[in-house]
Amino acid sequence: MKHTDIIDIFRNKEAVGKEFTVCGWVRKSRDSKNVAFLEINDGTSLNHLQIVIDKSIIHDSTDYLPICTSVCVTGICVQALNNPSGIEMNANKIELLGTCPPDYPIQKKPHSLEYLRTIPHLRVRTNTFNAMFRLRSKLSEAIHRYFLDRNFTYVHTPIITGSDCEGAGEIFQVTTVGFHPEYKSAQEYYAADFFGQKAGLTVSGQLEGEMMAMGLGKIYTFGPTFRAENSNTPRHAAEFWQVEPEVAFADLNDIIGIATEMIKFIIGSVLDSCKEEFALFEKFYEPGLVAKLRAAIESDFARVDYGEAIKILKESGREFQYPVDWGCDLQTEHERYLTDIVFKRPVFVVNYPKKLKSFYMKQNPDGLTVAATDLLVPGVGEIIGCSERENDYHKLLQAITDRKMNIKDYVRYLELRKYGSVPHSGFGLGLERMLMYLTGIGNIRDVTMFARTKGDLR
Ligand code: 4AD
Ligand code: MG
Repeated sequence: MKHTDIIDIFRNKEAVGKEFTVCGWVRKSRDSKNVAFLEINDGTSLNHLQIVIDKSIIHDSTDYLPICTSVCVTGICVQALNNPSGIEMNANKIELLGTCPPDYPIQKKPHSLEYLRTIPHLRVRTNTFNAMFRLRSKLSEAIHRYFLDRNFTYVHTPIITGSDCEGAGEIFQVTTVGFHPEYKSAQEYYAADFFGQKAGLTVSGQLEGEMMAMGLGKIYTFGPTFRAENSNTPRHAAEFWQVEPEVAFADLNDIIGIATEMIKFIIGSVLDSCKEEFALFEKFYEPGLVAKLRAAIESDFARVDYGEAIKILKESGREFQYPVDWGCDLQTEHERYLTDIVFKRPVFVVNYPKKLKSFYMKQNPDGLTVAATDLLVPGVGEIIGCSERENDYHKLLQAITDRKMNIKDYVRYLELRKYGSVPHSGFGLGLERMLMYLTGIGNIRDVTMFARTKGDLR
């Protein structure tokens, strides 16, 4: 259908006096004796285009009034002083594309995010989700731009894999055969399966990313990752997107520098490209949001040693639900105390106990900790998991053996340490967590189209 995007009409400084055809869904409508008004939205802009219907020209105006009716309108653009876009359209012709009966589940009253979760197929038609998905797109674009402008190569790592990068056993199994009592052992069962071995959905593209970085130098992957997380929390999903750069010739300090620069770049980029969207999130979800984000760009991200962080938490006088001691994993309540109360800005917690972290992390000379860091941000907690990788063949082999992992699955990964091993580092940024930080929306179920969480596959 030949028509103009509504955003292009708003941006066109010479639109007034000209005729255009637009398509969209009615978001609001108003009727009076001689005129009727429709506000239509086509998804290219948060602002609606107001259509003025002169009933002496268009006689069947009541057909167009129900919310979510879809229409194609031809008319002349005129100046509108009482409208944020400064422009509206006097309709000459309206074509009804689709009617919408009164049982349409999104009516005028504001709906809660919880209610909208029950209609994931329709919620994109609300301002909040329309803004969210446009922001998600612009954020992805900014991430690509950051890396591609800096000589990184964008690589695609496999979704189906035989290894467990994080070693946490949170793998979704991929199988084409159901278990049958005829199989005498698990081994026999897996041998009969599609790949002739146990296979699963990747939890991270890192291990393959490291292989690519050993030839391409600087790479990043950006794609879906999967975790059979048993935890039912507002920040864990079973399917989420991760951005994972991997950089050769880089130690922990170098990669912290890259992570900091990237986070600041992508915040700045979306603040520029999504001004209306941020105004909405600021108004309805987090007062002070834009100032918080601008301050983050200006600030030096804090850095605290894990041991020091534990000391701060112990001396806080707070009664945490999970008690803290050296060696314990930081829970959301601890992360939030550090970001929201102590540092009040993004903070890298560095040098975690070896026991808490994955096998691939570079072991520090103290024998107890690894060169790993998490970036925690106010309101959310961890958004990045990052480390220098163990590049010593024997130490890596030892770490794999100590964890009783199957060496067979890591032979190729180990070979990277045999043939021209170099210091290298990388991180994973959770895209949904980043969106929570950017919007002030507190639940991961509301930053993605169809949230996959335990017990929920709507
Ligand atoms: O800290 P994680 O587990 O690190 C890795 O997977 C590394 N292999 C990354 C790397 O070094 N290449 O996960 C990285 C990030 C977390 O900081 C978090 O933002 C996000 O991925 N994340 C989740 N997001 C939503 N739901 C979950 N269940 C998540 N688990 C991790
Ligand atoms: Mg982590």
